[in-house]
Amino acid sequence: MSVGENIHPIFDRILQRSDKEALLKQRSKVIWMTGLSGSGKSTIAQGVEKLLHERGFLTKLLDGDNVRTGINKNLSFSEDDRLENIRRVAEVSKLFLEGGIITINSFVSPTYDLRDLARGIVGTEDFVEVYVKASYELCEQRDVKGLYAKVRAGQIANFTGKDAPFDEPINPEVVIDTANQTPEESVDYLVEKILPLIQYS
Ligand code: ADX
Repeated sequence: MSVGENIHPIFDRILQRSDKEALLKQRSKVIWMTGLSGSGKSTIAQGVEKLLHERGFLTKLLDGDNVRTGINKNLSFSEDDRLENIRRVAEVSKLFLEGGIITINSFVSPTYDLRDLARGIVGTEDFVEVYVKASYELCEQRDVKGLYAKVRAGQIANFTGKDAPFDEPINPEVVIDTANQTPEESVDYLVEKILPLIQYS
């Protein structure tokens, strides 16, 4: 007997995403920010969420550092655990998506495979991949959390960009060039890109 055998989803009898979107007067999307640790994902995600909230949109921010202290606190930075991290986050995002809510996700999600997995779970038409671009050297200079110094001291294994891979996104919906923009400029730029996708008409 398979695990799914006695499970009977009732999707056809419950209220639909379109009902929630009509109530909220918005279109839901999953804004998926990818980039190295310290590239600026969380800062930009927070700024975007604040602006959208002020404009009347219902949003939910999902952030690696936070999610990893809760629902994903049993996961490490091994390849398998990163995959499980992203899989769960994508599933959670999909629940919000079905509830009409815009999620803004900030996860290193370092490889093509991880981002493809997330895109597949969410659905490509609702998945907005945002590459928050900053080189390893730039992140190391900023070192907001002091992690890069620890990496240099050999205290962190499997660190993205050092001894764990980061695949540069090939065809992201948006690229944010943090080397040449202030965080405020990046927030404004991304909000302008997102607005047409979430406006209700
Ligand atoms: S992901 O690779 O699984 O997508 P996630 O975004 O959840 O990563 O978590 C990344 C955050 O965890 C980083 O911003 C950093 O603060 C912290 N971190 C701790 N160890 C590592 C590591 N080995 N590689 C990358 N980030 C790490």
